[in-house]
Amino acid sequence: MKQTKQYSAYFLLLILHFLLSGYARGTFVTFYISNKCPFPIWPATAANAGQPVVAEGGFFLPSGQTKRIVAPYKWSGRVWARTGCNFTSHTKPICETGDCGGRLACNGVIGLPPATLVQVSVQSDNSKPNYYDVSLVDGYNLPVSVAARSLDSKCSIGGCSKKLNSLCPRELQVLNSQGKVVACKSACLAFNHDLFCCMNDYGSPDKCKPNMYSNMFKNACPSYYSYAFDTPAPLVSCTSSEYVITFCPSKWGQHSPI
Ligand SMILES: *[C@@H]1O[C@H](CO)[C@@H](O)[C@H](O)[C@H]1NC(C)=O
Repeated sequence: MKQTKQYSAYFLLLILHFLLSGYARGTFVTFYISNKCPFPIWPATAANAGQPVVAEGGFFLPSGQTKRIVAPYKWSGRVWARTGCNFTSHTKPICETGDCGGRLACNGVIGLPPATLVQVSVQSDNSKPNYYDVSLVDGYNLPVSVAARSLDSKCSIGGCSKKLNSLCPRELQVLNSQGKVVACKSACLAFNHDLFCCMNDYGSPDKCKPNMYSNMFKNACPSYYSYAFDTPAPLVSCTSSEYVITFCPSKWGQHSPI
């Protein structure tokens, strides 16, 4: 009888041990979304088909603040930031950039381009690398950096070395109601031409080459995808389980730890 009790206590501890170590290892990946912009932003997430909504799809993030969000293993999707939102206004779109049907919580709805996109593909278990990149294929609104929280340098995607909105040529500009450039369309988005979108006759890397617009994007933000077949592909793979995504990283350049 006494022995049975001892065994069951041991068994309980064993279960507890597995539960706790499982929790410590995590079955999810953590993202710290940080706003270093001198203005508020409304970060948003949208999952790829079949994946769950993360952080309700969107939230408010005042200047200088960081929010922790988690995505389960196998999650893939995008993270972007909306700017200039006014949810009490009746004008459409509610946000000057990245708007998702005027809602605070996008709940799976993708944002209106142009917006700088962080594209993420999370591992199926903790031994495999996560893949991510930053894409300007649909255009740009804010600079962003991505880094492992451990600051492993091979895991990091730097910000931009130039302010793309101030360099944006007139034909690609998105203006707010005050006439300020708040985003810059990609040539694909602005002209919807196969040549710029790398579609149909131009649908392969040898047919779709950089152009003066994509070169301008590459020059300002060298670590991002400047067009669909950017080479070498600025895709990062990293086995960390904690990442920092910083909007407006310091000096429009390197990422900064939280
Ligand atoms: C938001 O919109 C409302 C209604 O149009 C307006 O009264 C208010 O001033 C706006 N707020 C900001 C911060 O622009």
